[in-house]
Parts: sequence; structure tokens; C-alpha cells
Amino acid sequence: MKIGIPKEIHPGERRVAATPDTAKRLKSFGFDVIVESGAGAAAEFVNLAYTDVGCEIVPDARSLWAAADVVLKVRPPTADEVLLLREGGTLISFIYPAQNKQLLEQLAARKATVIAMDAVPRISRAQKLDALSSMANISGYRAIVEAANNFGRFFTGQITAAGKVPPAKVLVIGAGVAGLAAIGVAKGLGAIVRSFDTRPVVKEQIESMGAEFLLLDFKEDGTGEGGYAKPMSEEFIAAEMDLFRRQAKEVDIIITTALIPGRPAPKLITRDMLDLMRPGSVLVDLAAEAGGNCEATVPGEKVQYAGVTVVGYTDLPSRMASQSSQLYGSNLCHLLDDMGKAANYRVDENDEVVRGALVLRHGELKWPPPKPAAAPTPAAKPAEPKPAATPVATSKPASKPASKPRGHGGGHHGPPAGEPGSPLPLLLAGAALVGIGVGAPPAFLSHFTVFVLACFIGYQVVWNVAPALHTPLMSVTNAISGIIILGGMLQVSGAPTSAATILGAAAILLATINVAGGFLVTQRMLKMFRK
Ligand code: NAI
Repeated sequence: MKIGIPKEIHPGERRVAATPDTAKRLKSFGFDVIVESGAGAAAEFVNLAYTDVGCEIVPDARSLWAAADVVLKVRPPTADEVLLLREGGTLISFIYPAQNKQLLEQLAARKATVIAMDAVPRISRAQKLDALSSMANISGYRAIVEAANNFGRFFTGQITAAGKVPPAKVLVIGAGVAGLAAIGVAKGLGAIVRSFDTRPVVKEQIESMGAEFLLLDFKEDGTGEGGYAKPMSEEFIAAEMDLFRRQAKEVDIIITTALIPGRPAPKLITRDMLDLMRPGSVLVDLAAEAGGNCEATVPGEKVQYAGVTVVGYTDLPSRMASQSSQLYGSNLCHLLDDMGKAANYRVDENDEVVRGALVLRHGELKWPPPKPAAAPTPAAKPAEPKPAATPVATSKPASKPASKPRGHGGGHHGPPAGEPGSPLPLLLAGAALVGIGVGAPPAFLSHFTVFVLACFIGYQVVWNVAPALHTPLMSVTNAISGIIILGGMLQVSGAPTSAATILGAAAILLATINVAGGFLVTQRMLKMFRK
């Protein structure tokens, strides 16, 4: 199966849908990869780098589109590119189906199967192929780089022999993927960072990145469908803008990222706010493509207004083409992995990720996808059985209500032996205990009682511990293992070989494995938090 990587022809677009690294991964999935000559050049990937990993270079777009079974692209195709797509061919790319109805019609006429990377559902399982997040992350990073480049001072505060430099103050409006990335980079450069969002749930995320969440004394939750923001009331926007007006007098840099799906970006920074900012300040408007959050933004341009540099670039990911191609290429690899690689390649409409992103199938419109079924409402709690009316054999402990209703036909009342809830194992255990109690010597009996209690308490403790307490639990089990090792050493030291010394040696071995394993796991966990 052939995957084709054409050169992007949109003016100024530097990204490419596969880097030599991701092309190598596609090859390892069993695909043949053909690349248009010069496709990666603007992102610093020369033809030779692709041929080195086994890709074939084709001289022009026409031969590439004609030969490929699946074309991977970054930008939605132009009308001319659609004509190059093989009839019945597959295209995976950014499509923006809601805004590009005409493009969908053209693709449908080619009987194409089209998967839109911008329509991948934003669910946990699909994070690895969420290209919107990959690109937003890069935009947030680059926004701070642009701000720093246009700002005449340090971000970090310094005390030098020549004098004291105050840290820059950065305000990030909207803390989605891009906003959080911008906060991280600005903090990393040493700035004081504040942020505001209409969705109160992001407060913790903002604070965990080390920024201050600006509070607005207004009770309205901006959380909309799918974790996105919903439009706010006029009163809320007025109160929010009042907050930004006060902040404008204090901050040096404003990054705006506020977006509401399917709507023009809300205008949150007015010209009079820019008048209040100190000359030399910078505003980077990441919402420029959707009209901009700032009145003075000119989409695609960098302009000056009242001494403030207003950056409205709409191609920030493309300005870091090498990095964005790598991440976008990885997203595509994860998608093709999910679709069964070359051997089992299929467009599986039962896969909610593929279904969510599927726009056309053999020319048939599949977008928008059906809404996911609503989460089932929890079933009403079964009424507590009345003890008097319940036969002894079917009664269960109150803490474990039956999860499935049981049938009542055929005169069968109790669960069969061996099923959970069957009294047989309990009866057998009881009989064994009575047997041991009658026959065993008193010394054995006292040890055995301690053993049974230890097993019971140990089981209850370990199985009921919340995941958050697993680390302290591991320390406790290590301490217990230490005691076991000591006991085992006493048992084996100097005594002739017997069942007790063998058991002692086994105890030493198992407890040592537990202690060593505990240390190894702890080391791995600590490594995850080390920079
Ligand atoms: P976005 O680009 O649509 O919006 C950016 C931010 O602007 C959002 O945080 C929004 O609340 C905020 N905003 C909108 N109007 C505003 C206003 N008037 N004032 C201030 N802020 C305003 O959002 P993005 O980055 O695409 O992600 C939104 C959410 O989607 C995430 O926070 C998350 O809940 C969800 N998500 C889930 C993913 C997953 O599970 N795979 C991946 C990425 C995002």
C-alpha cells in the first residue's frame, strides 16, 4: 500500500506531512512511502534524508497523487489538488469540514475517502493523534518567542552590578492548550505570569504551571460542550474586559488565545486598553485567524499601535516547520497505527476516533458524526432485601449488593457452588479450621491464628488502599518485608535443614525480591519527576 507525501502549495506553508523520522515509522508499519521532490525542503528535510530511510522520491505532484493509495497532507487541498487525487483515493489532512462545504463537494465528486485531522475527537484515547493540540502547543510556545523577540527587555528579573531589572509581567487570556503552553514558556523564561479563562476548571491547570489565576467576582461558568468554551453573557464580557483594562496598566506582554468553536473570536482587548499599556509592550493574538481578540490585530501581520507591537501572525506552527512537521507526522503515524497499519488497514466506523474524524467515505458524506451515546444513567439502587423474607442461602453481605439481577425461575434459589456468593467454600474452610483446631498442637494453633489474622488484615489493607497512597503503602510493605527477612535469617541460622529452614530461606528470597523491586519502582517514579 502506497502512502504519498506531496509538497504543500499554500503560500508560506513550510510544514510537511511526514519527516524522515515519521516516514521511517510508516515504512515499519509496512507502507511504501513516496515523497514529492522537495516536499520537506522548507522544513529542513532534504530529499536524501527521505531516500536514506527507504522512501521513493517522485519528481512532481501529478505523479505523486496518481500513485498514492493514501495521501497525507497538512493544509486542506486546493481545487486543483482535488483533481489530482485518484478516483476513490484516500486523503488524510486538515479539512475544517464546517468551513469548507465546497471542498467537500469536490472531494465527494472524486468518490474520495477523507479523514479530517482537525475533527479527531478530543478524548483521552485520541490524545496521541490530536493534531489540533500538537499545533496549539507549538503556537503557544512560538507566541512567547515572538513576544520576547519584539520586547526590548529581559523576561527574568535580575540584580546586576549595573542595576536591578524587574521581571516582565505576562498576561495570558484563555488557558486552553496554546494558553497553557505559553504560560509554561513564559514562566520558564522567568516572567511573572497571570492568566484568565472563562472555564473555572482550568484554575488548577494554570496554577500548576506556576501562574496566577485572575479571579473575577462573577458567577458564570464558561464550560461548553466537549470541554470547549461557550459564549458568555454581555455582562460577563464587560466584567472581564474591566479586569483586562486594569491589567493593561500593569503588564508588559499580553497573549490572547480566547476562542469559541464555530464563532468569531470574542473582542476582549480594545484600543483604549492598548493606550493604557506601556510603550514597548507586546500583544500576540493567537486568535487572529478567527478575527482576533484584539481590536488592533491585523491577521497575518505585525503592526504598531500606540507604541504597542501587535502580532497577528496566523502561521505560527509553520514558523517552526521542522518541529510541527515532526509532531503532525507523529499524529498521522498514530492514526495509521490505529487503522491497522498496512497489513490490516481499514476505515473502521466502529472505532469512535476514526468515525469522529471521517468526513467522506467513497464520496458519501459522513460528517458530522453521530453524537456519542449519552452516558447511561446509573440504575436505581435495588431495594434492600428484607432480611425476614430472604432465604438464608441467597442472602449476601449488605456491603456487596448484587450487580446483576438473578433469575427466579426453576425453583433455583441459591447460587451454584463455586460461584461468588456460594456458601460451599466457606463451609469447607470452616470444616478445615475445626479439623485443625481439634488435631493440631497448641503451639502451632497460636501461630496459625496469628497467620490467618495477618492474611485477612493484609488482604483488607492492600486491596482497599487508594491509588494515591500506593507509595506510602510500598514503604510499609518494605518495612514488613524487612521484618520477614530478619525472621527468616533467625530461622535458617545454625539450624539443621528442615521444613522450617527451607520455608525461612524461601521467605528471605521472596521478601528480598519485594524490597529490591520496591526500590527499583521508586527510582523509576522519582525519575519521572526529575528534570
Ligand atoms: P480553544 O482554542 O477552543 O480555546 C482557547 C481557550 O480560550 C479555552 O480555554 C477557552 O475556555 C478560552 N476562552 C474562550 N472564551 C474566552 C473568554 N471570553 N475569555 C477568556 N478565555 C476564553 O481551546 P483548546 O485549546 O482547543 O482546548 C479547549 C479544551 O479542550 C481543553 O481545555 C480541554 O478541556 C479540551 N481538550 C481535550 C483534549 C483531549 O482530551 N484529547 C485535548 C485538547 C483539548
